Amino acid sequence: MQRTVKPEWLDDLPADDPRARRSRRDLQRINAVMMNSALVARELRRAFPRQPPRLIAEIGAGDGQFMLQVAHRSPQWAALQLLLIDRLNLFDGGINAKFRESGWRTEAVTLDVNDWLAQTTPLIPDVIVANLFLHHFDTRGLSELLLRISQRTRVLIACEPRRSPVALAGSRLLGIAGCNDVTRHDAVVSVRAGFVGRELSDLWPDPACWTLREDRYGLFSHYFVAIKTP
Ligand SMILES: C[S@@+](CC[C@H](N)C(=O)[O-])C[C@H]1O[C@@H](n2cnc3c(N)ncnc32)[C@H](O)[C@@H]1O
Repeated sequence: MQRTVKPEWLDDLPADDPRARRSRRDLQRINAVMMNSALVARELRRAFPRQPPRLIAEIGAGDGQFMLQVAHRSPQWAALQLLLIDRLNLFDGGINAKFRESGWRTEAVTLDVNDWLAQTTPLIPDVIVANLFLHHFDTRGLSELLLRISQRTRVLIACEPRRSPVALAGSRLLGIAGCNDVTRHDAVVSVRAGFVGRELSDLWPDPACWTLREDRYGLFSHYFVAIKTP
């Protein structure tokens, strides 16, 4: 299957559109089926076996529900700060209290990811997380994004749709699970824009200075982890 990147409906709907809200709730269920939060929590523990991360940034964070699931699956890391970056303001302040139960302090940043990465800031995340986000970019945009990420952090953990017949078949069955038209459309588009093989590793800049892992995860996901060699 050739990789194709097409616009997703959710990205064009206003944040408070009822169909968009419903689709974001669908996304929580899809994330649960894909088990992506378990993968990200596992890779966080692996990347930080002794010294916990102080600052985590999720790019394309949506409403923050995904990272809340990651927080629930992670050790109680003291003084951990989480930046949730999304170009839409989707953050409901009520979620802060839920993160605090895991010891995580959160801050929502409403910015395009490229504008955030271009900012001159003393905030250097120990790790950047991307879930169901990198597939939004075509090869050129992705190369530029990965370059900026590599200049901003020492660890990237990404979990994306797998571009496979099984994942495509799964995305076409979402109507049975009660997902709405936006979710059903975007799921198929996302799988076609997903990844296989070493497609993300091949776009990563300066691979000699990084340890890269990339593989399938479960039936529907594809993960990529980049850790800078000390
Ligand atoms: C499929 S959703 C995933 C949300 C979340 N990571 C999750 O797993 O629930 C993709 C998110 O990326 C955001 N997004 C898309 N393009 C973006 C960009 N260029 N900069 C920042 N956020 C972007 C969208 O607003 C949307 O919330």
